[in-house]
Amino acid sequence: MLDGMSNTPRILLDCDPGHDDAMAIVAAARYAELVGITTVSGNAPLERTTYNARVMRDLLGIDVPVHSGSSRPLLSEPHFGALVHGDSGLDGADLPAPTTALDGTDAVTFIIDTCRSLDDVWLVPVGPLTNIALALRSAPDIAARIAGISLMGGGTFGNRTSTGEFNIWADPEAAAVVFGYGGRLVMAGLDVTHQFQATPERIARIAALPGTFAAVFADLFEFFSGNYLARHDPGSLQGAAVHDPLAVLVLTHPHLFERAHYHVAIETRGEFTRGMTVIDRRRITDRAAPNCDVLTRVDHDAAFDLLIDAVDHFSH
Ligand code: RIB
Ligand code: CA
Repeated sequence: MLDGMSNTPRILLDCDPGHDDAMAIVAAARYAELVGITTVSGNAPLERTTYNARVMRDLLGIDVPVHSGSSRPLLSEPHFGALVHGDSGLDGADLPAPTTALDGTDAVTFIIDTCRSLDDVWLVPVGPLTNIALALRSAPDIAARIAGISLMGGGTFGNRTSTGEFNIWADPEAAAVVFGYGGRLVMAGLDVTHQFQATPERIARIAALPGTFAAVFADLFEFFSGNYLARHDPGSLQGAAVHDPLAVLVLTHPHLFERAHYHVAIETRGEFTRGMTVIDRRRITDRAAPNCDVLTRVDHDAAFDLLIDAVDHFSH
């Protein structure tokens, strides 16, 4: 598949599966060197997100370690996403129980050990940032060792609140640690992920692929998209925003994206704005130094073709 324009980055995916997390696992397994999957409480409680990550690993038939991590945010009470993902975190399909055992229950140590033993690891968190923040706090040395952090989260608007996107809003203190870590940071926020929708035509293309894996994914996205559209004004979206894979594809296929370099801070105290990514887009010269590549545009047709190709690859 590598088209000369793409890379094969070494990725550790931290996730809270989650339908779009599941698609991020598929994209990372297909187009990156996936060295590990860690799980965090988010779309569902930790035991569910961990179970779902194990289900995906076995469905893909990949040999990648899965380690569970934080069951709650640094300070906030845990919040979940059953309204979008269902009580299991991955409702909508008849999924086979996983048989491969969990590799460990200390994701933070796994993250630290992996970043210390391997060069050029990209940390790709696509759920609340609790595990990543704890790893950076426990082992500050990894900040200079990793290739960077490519995360899904934030934006100029919210989804869980008017200003809070779920991954940042669920654990703002953790997000503040990550956005302040000082290394390379790429942010796939709602401004770009809402350009990337599971339209009925795209879901139909997945359903038309041969093999049971494709059929399962079509069912999952039928459910995910139905829930998403039911919670949005008619016509405002044509399908669920498939957020998480973009944090992977920006590393494997960077030419499909446009980005801007901004300073992004995390609001941790505001009564109405806690969990907001405060993005400084002013053109005045004495603004804060940029700390983040904020993705602004994606070639969504080409990017979705990559996802469909990846599902096809694993569906035979
Ligand atoms: O706001 C979207 C994010 O919250 C995605 O990562 C989705 O999986 C949920 O975790
Ligand atoms: Ca997620």
